[in-house]
Amino acid sequence: MLQQIKEATAFIQEKIDGFVPEAGIILGTGLGGLVEHIDILHSIDYASIPHFPISTVEGHTGRLIFGMLGGKRIVAMQGRFHYYEGYTPQQVVFPVRVMKFLGISRLFVSNASGGTNPSFRVGDLMVITDHINLIPNPLIGPNIDELGPRFPDMRDAYDPALISLATQIAEENKIKLQYGCYVSLTGPTFETPHEYGYVRAIGGDTVGMSTTPEIIAARHMGIPCFGVSIITDLATDNSVSHEEVQAQGKKAEKEMTRLFVGMLERL
Ligand code: HPA
Repeated sequence: MLQQIKEATAFIQEKIDGFVPEAGIILGTGLGGLVEHIDILHSIDYASIPHFPISTVEGHTGRLIFGMLGGKRIVAMQGRFHYYEGYTPQQVVFPVRVMKFLGISRLFVSNASGGTNPSFRVGDLMVITDHINLIPNPLIGPNIDELGPRFPDMRDAYDPALISLATQIAEENKIKLQYGCYVSLTGPTFETPHEYGYVRAIGGDTVGMSTTPEIIAARHMGIPCFGVSIITDLATDNSVSHEEVQAQGKKAEKEMTRLFVGMLERL
């Protein structure tokens, strides 16, 4: 695995002429529009990178974008890998490990989620302050000591300084933020009413199908992380669809983009 990470990193480094990204961004739901704000210097299709997971979804090539955003050198993953697509947990986090080897010292992620906290509304942005990972852990298996410890600490999985910064940027830009705990389940089914109730009962404010593996891999390597969840539907809704999730995600895009760019400017 380590060898594969190094080979993928070497391949990319040759294409990006000594560019060293400071921050990694996973463009989940709500951050798609961020691409338009990046001064793109290089872009590399996942399919061309050795050992990168091959995207199974048609029309979803996926690529790494290198460029400037908020005055910082960034690498953005346009397209992420989900466990429900059939990738192993290790494949899901492979790009995060490569981003670390490329030089990132912070990771920013976004996602769409269902709100289980009764005070949340559709369209709210929730800063993730903690998570409960109920997807198979990507660190299962022999530990790669060069990446991090066998038993990584997961307190402050979401960096308190980055959360404070987000609060400040949101106040200045009049963006309303919620705060809470994100619970990940494998999907691809949305939850039954009792499953939403279970998420709430164990302390979850939102539920989704991504993010926690990436954060676990990043924290294993000591990278400070920041995550935001868009509430695209509520546990109390009568039904939920992928189309609705996408439509609500699109609506929150502007605020989410403002928040992330504002944070990068201040790093
Ligand atoms: N459940 C799981 N994943 C989701 C949801 C949800 O309600 N909404 C968006 N992603």
